[in-house]
Amino acid sequence: MSKIKKIGILTSGGDCGGLNAAIRSIFFRAKTKYNMDVYGIRDGTIGLAKRPPDVQKLTRNIFRGYLLRQGGTFLGSNNKDNPFKFQKKGKIIDTSKLIIEGYKSLNLDGLIIIGGDGSMKILKKLAMKGKMNIVAIPKTIDNDVGATENSIGFHTAIDVATQALDNLQSTAASHRRSMILEVMGRDAGHIALHAGIAGGADVILIPEIKYSIKGIINKLNEMKENKIQHSLIIVAEAVKKENGLKVIQKYINDEKRLGGIGEYIASEIMKKTDIECRVTTLGHVQRGAPPTANDRILASAFGVYAVDLLAKKNFNRMVAWNNRRVVDVPIDKGIKTYRNVKRNDPLVETALSLGTYIGDIK
Ligand code: F6P
Repeated sequence: MSKIKKIGILTSGGDCGGLNAAIRSIFFRAKTKYNMDVYGIRDGTIGLAKRPPDVQKLTRNIFRGYLLRQGGTFLGSNNKDNPFKFQKKGKIIDTSKLIIEGYKSLNLDGLIIIGGDGSMKILKKLAMKGKMNIVAIPKTIDNDVGATENSIGFHTAIDVATQALDNLQSTAASHRRSMILEVMGRDAGHIALHAGIAGGADVILIPEIKYSIKGIINKLNEMKENKIQHSLIIVAEAVKKENGLKVIQKYINDEKRLGGIGEYIASEIMKKTDIECRVTTLGHVQRGAPPTANDRILASAFGVYAVDLLAKKNFNRMVAWNNRRVVDVPIDKGIKTYRNVKRNDPLVETALSLGTYIGDIK
């Protein structure tokens, strides 16, 4: 049986803290344990569609120091690169064949893909079509990939959001205001829930649990009665208005993105009370921040394990974090079992016990 000698890495989907740490770990494991050649593919699958394919042979020098500490991905990524529906000059074309041919032309024995559930789904489909040997590493600040307790990037995002609450607390207290922090999380409320607890939010709003404006106002009034005139509210971008409508921003190119629920909550509170609100939307600082120690460790452990899977020709697997160690599961399990916040998550109970309003109407 021939050995795995030459492997590729690509990062796909939205970037996050810890991607460079993962690439570094893959390189060192592949080089030192197996003496493999490692190629970084630029801009996700887009690099494989170029002629010649846009790749970089990785060397020790690249990882001399700062990359481990840096957010983002030095290889580049793209969250609009679905090759089966690629948009080019206003037209939708299928570039999957081009990508598969690009992969074949590099004579790679295997490919490690670092991505969220969307990217994994696409790469799995490509791998099936082109007989590509893939192993996946989950990354997403939303932490919504199934079958893993943690994905790369999540801890960094929680840390940024917690620091933001820390900074907002003093200004909230100085002006006796209610400060509303809108955080990312396309469908899941993990960032808001975790940062809300760590940063002492009085109100945590997540898409998985229904809230009411009355419930929020009751909480703020109760605080006022106890002579606390300032408060912190954290809200996930995917939380809907009370009437169930999503809050979406439309951009000039007709693109629609989540955003604005913080402003909605602020205006509802201000319409119905004399409480002054201010809104901070955290946005992409949650993605671009230097990775926390936790994310660097997770990324490093994932990288080593992923290379070992390739070396054993154990393809179509996803590495996962389970009970404080790395394990592997079929990629399909990561794709198909979406992970959002469950009502019975112990952290929901933790937030409630801290006196936080977290919804369920009232
Ligand atoms: O899925 C990760 C994520 O950061 C979401 O939390 C957010 O809604 C989205 O990506 C933003 O994507 P973009 O970089 O396209 O604005």
